[in-house]
Amino acid sequence: MEFVELGKTGKKVSALALGCMSLTHEKEAQSRASVVKAFELGINFFDTADVYTNGESETVLGAALKEGGIAREDVVIASKCGIVFPGMVPEYEYKAYDLSADYIKAGVEKSLKRLDTDYIDLFQPHRIDYLTHPEETARAFDDLKAEGKVRHVGVSNFSPDEIRALSAYVRLEVLQTQFSLLHLEPLETGLLATCQEKQMNMLCWSPNHSGVLAGKGDLAHSNWQAQREQGVVTLVAEFADKYGWTLGQTALAWLMQLPGGVIPLLGTANPDHVAEAVDAVGKRLDRDDWYELMVIARGRPMPWGQRPYLYTKER
Ligand SMILES: NC(=O)c1ccc[n+]([C@@H]2O[C@H](COP(=O)([O-])OP(=O)(O)OC[C@H]3O[C@@H](n4cnc5c(N)ncnc54)[C@H](OP(=O)(O)O)[C@@H]3O)[C@@H](O)[C@H]2O)c1
Repeated sequence: MEFVELGKTGKKVSALALGCMSLTHEKEAQSRASVVKAFELGINFFDTADVYTNGESETVLGAALKEGGIAREDVVIASKCGIVFPGMVPEYEYKAYDLSADYIKAGVEKSLKRLDTDYIDLFQPHRIDYLTHPEETARAFDDLKAEGKVRHVGVSNFSPDEIRALSAYVRLEVLQTQFSLLHLEPLETGLLATCQEKQMNMLCWSPNHSGVLAGKGDLAHSNWQAQREQGVVTLVAEFADKYGWTLGQTALAWLMQLPGGVIPLLGTANPDHVAEAVDAVGKRLDRDDWYELMVIARGRPMPWGQRPYLYTKER
């Protein structure tokens, strides 16, 4: 395993994190096994949220770590709150976002209970709430840090300007955002540059584009978007073959090669898939190949040179 610094905390986290969104009671044994397997293979960074599987994700993660005999201080647990689904408290008619100080404090208390722990290493507002001033959100985190319930703060799905606004009031260590070879927005909107400016890690959600980049897609799609995705996957597979890697490893290696601590949140509750992904750590593409993959992914050439990119080759 390779490790990178979590923001500016001095704490080391694994270059690959386990995304725990699919941990459930229904598949409890398999879910716990994937957490323990991840830890055995060097992953010390686990991401969950109050809304994942209605809170079961947090409960199963906490139980898996305890029963796996994994010391609390040997792992970094990240969680989130702020998305309020119908049925949650307070009861809104529609799905709403709430980053008010009271909501965050109550959310942290509930997450601590489900995780069965005294503190959360990294807490992230899940999505922006336009109705709460960032100063109020930051105040909640100051209090939670002073009480020892939250160690560090990050954000999830924030834009560069939203990051700047909240970081005027509280130090942010990470941004969690959708990022993969099938979702290049963080490169195109300056999000990655903002993270580098602020010395924040970028945690990539859906790094395999919900499994499409690990070969879970269906080539026979009639939908134009899925067809485009499968076209990209077919070309990524050629690079995977060239290096002798799997498709998913190639997609993860492409992300991890970016500077500044770009960490994929691998989404699986399958221990074999955890092992396959861990094997991607340390793999490096040639600079030419990295850029060629980016050109394939974005579907249009970069403004330079005459190199015959793969996607323009006659087939
Ligand atoms: N902040 C946010 O708004 C947000 C949103 C979404 C997700 N997240 C975070 O990001 C994490 C990952 O998201 P995600 O689940 O969409 O990620 P993902 O890794 O892109 O996709 C997960 C899917 O890929 C499949 N998969 C993984 N490895 C595979 C392999 N080797 N072969 C075949 N299939 C494979 C999984 O199936 P198996 O289970 O069968 O392996 C699962 O269906 C979540 O757990 C969560 O922590 C955050």
